[in-house]
Amino acid sequence: MQSLRNIAVTDPYMHNGVFKTLHEVVDFYNTRDVKSWPAPEVADNVNQDELGDLGLTDEEVNDLVAFLETLTDGYELPE
Ligand code: HEM
Repeated sequence: MQSLRNIAVTDPYMHNGVFKTLHEVVDFYNTRDVKSWPAPEVADNVNQDELGDLGLTDEEVNDLVAFLETLTDGYELPE
């Protein structure tokens, strides 16, 4: 089971490290289907029911990022 614990200190994000910031991740979830983003590597399983056009305001995006930043517990990643 994956978790978002310590997510603020584990950039870059996603399976291919495409995003450097959590803001980019949340922006992507919010606007993938309404702004122009690079095409997916595999288009067959894109989740358009729960993600891609969330309709979040900038403030809500920033609030989610602020929440994700609270999930840091001081654990230091191994070298
Ligand atoms: C707004 C709500 C959400 C937030 C804040 C969020 C946050 C994140 C973050 C920060 C990552 C990057 C993890 C990493 O690279 O270590 C991630 C990856 C991922 N999330 Fe979410 N997530 C949300 C909703 C969802 C939903 C609804 C689904 C599926 C129904 C989902 C499925 C995934 C998957 C499959 C990945 C891995 C993608 C990849 O490796 O390319 N997420 N999420």
